[in-house]
Amino acid sequence: MNTQVCELRDDDRRPPASDVLQVVQRGLGMRPKRLPSWLFYDERGSQLFEEICAQPEYYLTRAEIDLMNVHAAEIAQVLGPDVRLIEYGSGSAIKTRMLLEQLTTPVSYMPVEISPEPLRESVEQFGRLFPGLAIQPLCADFTRPLRLPIPPRAPRRNVLYFPGSTIGNFEARDAIDLLRKMRNEMGEGGGILVGVDLKKDSAAIEAAYNDKAGVTAEFTLNMLTRINREIGSDFDLSAFRHRARYNPMAGRIETYIVSTREQQVRVGRARVTFGEEEAMQVEYSCKYSLEDFATLATHAGLRVQDAWMDPQRQFSVQFLVRA
Ligand code: AVI
Repeated sequence: MNTQVCELRDDDRRPPASDVLQVVQRGLGMRPKRLPSWLFYDERGSQLFEEICAQPEYYLTRAEIDLMNVHAAEIAQVLGPDVRLIEYGSGSAIKTRMLLEQLTTPVSYMPVEISPEPLRESVEQFGRLFPGLAIQPLCADFTRPLRLPIPPRAPRRNVLYFPGSTIGNFEARDAIDLLRKMRNEMGEGGGILVGVDLKKDSAAIEAAYNDKAGVTAEFTLNMLTRINREIGSDFDLSAFRHRARYNPMAGRIETYIVSTREQQVRVGRARVTFGEEEAMQVEYSCKYSLEDFATLATHAGLRVQDAWMDPQRQFSVQFLVRA
């Protein structure tokens, strides 16, 4: 059977590139200064993220793969046959492959990704791996309402797959809003399969965001390179550094870009002042206990039907259905 690969569909509600200037201006006007973490993911940022996943300290990816090695068949059984699998993001080739290999007669695979290039790569890769599977990519921002392409046949259930603990990059109230949006999108009888990093020893968590090779630091500062390129600002990268600390009360890694001296940066027509040691918040990576996440799900009108953990109980994959 031939691979059924559709053309990339561009959801025209994607924010235009000119929004970057507005987003940066708004973030630098806040006290404390704050920029959204999606600004990490230009082409170089996505490459660096792949490198982070291979660092010895970054346990998340290995733990999730270990989990899938042990539990993918059981997960597929819980999801059942004739699933339409809609993935939020398209960067998780190995895990998605492990799941698709176990699913019985999936109706289609639909990666939803804002950057066209990784989306195109994922379509090519899955097309090669699963000839006969309908692949329906959607180029869109998954945090906004999606117009899903019509599947080739009626699925028994929509499953929204959100691996990698990206849900942890949303603050609790935003995570609840996103889960609520997903709840609507999956429809009656649908479900959400989500990767959730678990609370553990603070030192192990902190090390994962401060790898010795300095890849995470480069990833963080690459945000400034991207901003310089896209809006013509003049951030001097040698005058900023990466800082990631675990806040045990809030249960999250808090990542900052710290100015190493007092300085002014040109952004559009304005000059923005940074004090020495001024920290600009760029990412949260929230960690949950199973109980914490069950409570969060409840606030979104969902319940945890099943939860699986890797053998070292570092990471979980949870199946959420309507409460
Ligand atoms: C994509 N996300 C789950 C990663 C995380 O662990 O929060 C992004 C990341 N930031 C620094 N290292 C990895």
